[in-house]
Amino acid sequence: MSILDLAPVIPVVVIDDAETAVPLARALVAGGLPVIEVTLRTPAALDAIGRIAAEVPEAMIGAGTVRTPADVRASADAGAKFLVSPGTTPVLADAMQGSGLPFLPGAATASEVLALAERGLTELKFFPAGPAGGVAYLKALAGPIPEVRFCPTGGIRPDNAPEYLALPNVGCVGGTWLTPPDALASGDYARVEKLAAEAAALRGRPSP
Ligand code: 3PG
Repeated sequence: MSILDLAPVIPVVVIDDAETAVPLARALVAGGLPVIEVTLRTPAALDAIGRIAAEVPEAMIGAGTVRTPADVRASADAGAKFLVSPGTTPVLADAMQGSGLPFLPGAATASEVLALAERGLTELKFFPAGPAGGVAYLKALAGPIPEVRFCPTGGIRPDNAPEYLALPNVGCVGGTWLTPPDALASGDYARVEKLAAEAAALRGRPSP
C-alpha cells in the first residue's frame, strides 16, 4: 500500500531532544496517525528515527528533509522506513530510487512533476504547498497530469486540510501543527495525542 493511503495526515516533526522521540511517536500512533516524518533538521533527528524504529514498531517512521545521497544513506542506516524530500534533483532521485525504500520526492511545479513522472514516480510531496499555489494549483495539475498524486505540505492546518484532502490527486497532507514546540518542551503528549486524533478524523470531511 502507498504511503499516501496509510493515514490522512503525516505529522512533520522537528525533534530537538531524542529523549522525546518515543513518547511523541506513541502519542501520535495513539491518536490514530501511525505515519511519522522526522525531519533531518536537527542533530537529534537520526537518533530519534532509530529510537522510534526500535521501540515503536506500530509507527511507520520516515525521514524528511532528505536533500542528498548522504542523507538517504544515513536515514536508511538509522532505520527510516520511507524518505521525503522538499525538492528533487536528478542525483537525489537516483539515490532515493536506489535505496529500495518507498519515498515521496518533492515537487512544486508542473515541470518538476513531469520530470519525476518520466522516472515512473507518481506519488510526490507538493512543497511548499501554500506558497506554491495551494489547492488551486493542485486542482490545475489534475487536468493535464491526473495520474500523479500528492502529499501537500507547507502551510497546511486543520482549517484548510479538508479542502486539500477533498482533491482527487491528494492522498494525504503533512504538517507540523500536530507537534507544537511548547508541547514537546513541556512533555505534553496528551495534547499531541488530541491533535493527532482530531487530524485522523479529517479524511472524508466534505470540502468547505
Ligand atoms: C515540511 O517540511 O513539510 C514543512 O516544513 C511543513 O511546514 P508547516 O510548518 O507549514 O506544516
